[in-house]
Amino acid sequence: MTELDLPMIVTEIAAELAAETERGQVADYIPELARVNPGQFGLALALPDGRVIAAGDTEVPFSIQSVSKVFTLALALGRHGDRVWERVGREPSGDPFNSIVQLEYEKGRPRNPFINAGAIAVTDALLSSYAPREALGEILRFLQYLAGDDDIAIDPAVARSEQETGFRNVALANFMRGYGVLSGEPAKVLGVYFHHCAIAMSVRQLARAGRFLAFDGRLSPHGPRAVSSRMARQINALMLTCGHYDGSGEFAFRVGLPGKSGVGGGILAVAPGQASIGCWSPGLNAVGNSLLASRALERLAERTGWSVF
Ligand code: DON
Repeated sequence: MTELDLPMIVTEIAAELAAETERGQVADYIPELARVNPGQFGLALALPDGRVIAAGDTEVPFSIQSVSKVFTLALALGRHGDRVWERVGREPSGDPFNSIVQLEYEKGRPRNPFINAGAIAVTDALLSSYAPREALGEILRFLQYLAGDDDIAIDPAVARSEQETGFRNVALANFMRGYGVLSGEPAKVLGVYFHHCAIAMSVRQLARAGRFLAFDGRLSPHGPRAVSSRMARQINALMLTCGHYDGSGEFAFRVGLPGKSGVGGGILAVAPGQASIGCWSPGLNAVGNSLLASRALERLAERTGWSVF
């Protein structure tokens, strides 16, 4: 097999997408995100040999939003093991990320850790070990360690913006508290949740932070271990089945890689053994996933043959 010319593939995809006129809609239910310029696009691949191949707006920090849920899940599983699954399920929801409808039928237990309700429950689990400030410190330090980069922080304006307007999340948290699925005080749990969603990272940092998922729990194939290989496999499975909400089937169909999206327009995708991929473009499709980042990943999977199927 001829070796892939990854720098050329990545540069071509970035150039093709820069020319796209249809770029989706930036999220406006979080007012601070509505101010982001939709003309931006970045793509970065972190490879087994430590290289990062990147093109476009590779160094611009963006709000990772729901992509943070992958990292809080890894921390909670590391801390509490399989007990996390007592409060959250592992099935796709088929509903929008902020939906409340299944919660009543299913006695307040969210379908999976990536919909908002599920991620709030995971944050609550973290708060049984840490005070809110400590939990945020742990999350940031974990990301900095995974990315090998200390320059990762919370954007306070985004956190405040969501804190002021996150009424649906307030409803979800109170509903789960009513069923005893949350044990903490909803306002405290949400404070941590809003702040971890407001972490800002570049595609380069995101690609590096996701390496543990591409390399069986390690930062490189023979490098330091971040999580067990069992945990890395389980998180990848959830990303594939639930990482894009009610667009998860479509993403698996088109791209064929585990992936996690956020309403800031970021997607972390994983090509097992090959690369951890960070992609970002702020405009979203109708189900809240980045339009151009999804398209870029589809092209990348086609040109590399990296689909897991
Ligand atoms: O809770 C929210 O609505 C946001 N902080 C995160 C939602 C999100 O990123 C959904 N992703 N596509």
